[in-house]
Amino acid sequence: SNNIVVAIDGYSSCGKSTLAKALAKKLHFIYVDSGAMYRAVTLYFLRNNIDLHNHEQIAEALKDIHLNFHSRDYQTHITLNDEEVSDEIRLMPVSENVSAVSAVKEVRVEMVKQQQRMGQSKNVVMDGRDIGTVVFPHAQVKLFMTADPKIRAERRFKELAPKNPDITLEEVFENLAHRDYQDTTREESPLTRAEDAIILDNTDLTPDEQLQFALDKIEPFL
Ligand code: C5P
Repeated sequence: SNNIVVAIDGYSSCGKSTLAKALAKKLHFIYVDSGAMYRAVTLYFLRNNIDLHNHEQIAEALKDIHLNFHSRDYQTHITLNDEEVSDEIRLMPVSENVSAVSAVKEVRVEMVKQQQRMGQSKNVVMDGRDIGTVVFPHAQVKLFMTADPKIRAERRFKELAPKNPDITLEEVFENLAHRDYQDTTREESPLTRAEDAIILDNTDLTPDEQLQFALDKIEPFL
């Protein structure tokens, strides 16, 4: 098939989804937020007290989890067994547990399978941690995003604060640092730059500048 895949990987909260959404909108590609899938699985595991060391329980749980995206407006709208969970998956209980859940091999195998299906025949922009390395090693364009950790925490804090009056900048910073540590050191598909991924450090770039940078890389494949 000759569909185009744009893979965007990088650390937590460095603007991957903002860029991915802007690209999808501009190019009329499908946007897939792979992190939302791991978050929704985490929510299910928390609600159902799934023990991360119990492989049988995990396998059963994965069979009972049905995720769907409704990307009508290039935002992440995800349902977990037909329940809209897009807001709840951003809250701290999920953020604090998602890296442990996503380190479980069975979870990754199932999510990767679903993600590959979504990018099989359609033009997609997918963001995550292992998109350019594991999910789509042959993606036409791979970006690896990074930004100063303090800037990242401030950006994420501004996003979360309006809906979470109790949240502190410190707490957000710690969560990002902790997730980055877990994501880069885990056994299964650790976060790492694919050899052929282009680095995009956006510490000093506006969203428009990032969009232009990425469009220039994708243009030759359109
Ligand atoms: O992208 P987001 O920060 O919402 O992802 C939440 C978590 O899901 C990450 O910290 C990481 O542990 C996990 N994840 C992953 N692989 C992906 C996307 C997300 O392990 N492709």
